[in-house]
Amino acid sequence: MQKLHVAVAKALVFDMPKVKILPHPEICPEGAEFELNNDESLCEGALRNGLKIEHACELSCACTTCHCIVREGFESLGEPSETEEDMLDKAWGLEPQSRLSCQIYPGKKDLVVELPKYTVNQVSEEI
Ligand code: FES
Repeated sequence: MQKLHVAVAKALVFDMPKVKILPHPEICPEGAEFELNNDESLCEGALRNGLKIEHACELSCACTTCHCIVREGFESLGEPSETEEDMLDKAWGLEPQSRLSCQIYPGKKDLVVELPKYTVNQVSEEI
């Protein structure tokens, strides 16, 4: 029985996707790496690991401040909802691999993620 528990625990541990955040001058100058828990969005995982990703709408897909660009593993993610796509249109620095980190629930594939230099809030404050 104990062997079964160990096998299940190992399977759970090894199935958790790893996330690599590329260096960002303010949020993580050295970059960061962490694993996501089950049912945890990318934004939730980043916040749990001390990365101060802006999340003005409290992860409800109603702003674009958690915008990120998925450099590796993009194709493994589920399709964005219509609401996410509409919100992404307002994001600063939009790219084909842009997503809202509060709406990404990675599967088994590891991700490499870039955080844009600015959020939409920072840009509008400077105007
Ligand atoms: S935190 Fe607002 S859209 Fe993600």
